[in-house]
Amino acid sequence: MANPIIPWIGGKRRLAPHILPLFNNQHTCYVEPFVGAGALFFMKSPSEVEVINDVNGELVNLYRVVKHHLEEFMRQFKYALSSRQIFEWMKITVPETLTDIQRAARFLYLQKLSFGARVDGRSYGTATTSGPRLNILRLEEDLSEAWLRLSQAHIEHLSWHDCALRYDRPHTLTYCDPPYWQTEGYGVEFGWEQYERLAEFARNAAGTVIISVNDHPDMRAVFDGLEMRAVEITYTVGGGAKAAERQELIIGNWKDGWPTLAGQQAGLF
Ligand SMILES: C[S@@+](CC[C@H](N)C(=O)[O-])C[C@H]1O[C@@H](n2cnc3c(N)ncnc32)[C@H](O)[C@@H]1O
Repeated sequence: MANPIIPWIGGKRRLAPHILPLFNNQHTCYVEPFVGAGALFFMKSPSEVEVINDVNGELVNLYRVVKHHLEEFMRQFKYALSSRQIFEWMKITVPETLTDIQRAARFLYLQKLSFGARVDGRSYGTATTSGPRLNILRLEEDLSEAWLRLSQAHIEHLSWHDCALRYDRPHTLTYCDPPYWQTEGYGVEFGWEQYERLAEFARNAAGTVIISVNDHPDMRAVFDGLEMRAVEITYTVGGGAKAAERQELIIGNWKDGWPTLAGQQAGLF
């Protein structure tokens, strides 16, 4: 099992015990159109064909660089320091002035050290209870494990809908983790019509579609008719100082109802 290489707002590690048991082995093609840091992609066992996609170009560049230029990328961090001043300099550096490898290094540096793993409006994050997230000693190991998974994946940079339609087949499992309804943080618009389109995609897809969203009455309404269950998750921001309970909805397009699984018997749902 590999780990995400960067922290990401809305990362789904805590939801994994609820969602991973739903990934049965009947699919041979796995697609994540909103991959973000890919918590589930890196945790799940590999499928024959894997596709990851995100609209964020910096993120997609990072995955491509890890896939194709791992050693040169790791060299960028040989003497890296966790520093507020360097963080500020990185922030004001225009990505277009850098090579792809430098751009990916800048992105990883900012993402690791940004408070709350924010993508826009970043500020330097510190905690009095744990060390800096940029741990050079662990980086090589984490990146090597991630490379193993990325080396076999297709990395796309499409709108989620184009990606999902392109790979949808009876043998495909598409896991969709869109931005939360009525919350911000990815620096891109995600309007109501996108959830409507996602519900329509799930209803008409040839393959299995699993979706996770925040449990909100609007979300229950737009995905009405599909299978759905609520689960409670504890989230933390900024080194665990603030913990909050929130409900998430897991939605699926199974024609024969919610699958019976080991996790269900263990009381996870
Ligand atoms: C909730 S996050 C996914 C988090 C991910 N599951 C994880 O574990 O890190 C949603 C992602 O959707 C991406 N996104 C937003 N709008 C999109 C669009 N129209 N097409 C593709 N990706 C989009 C954002 O860049 C963000 O990475």
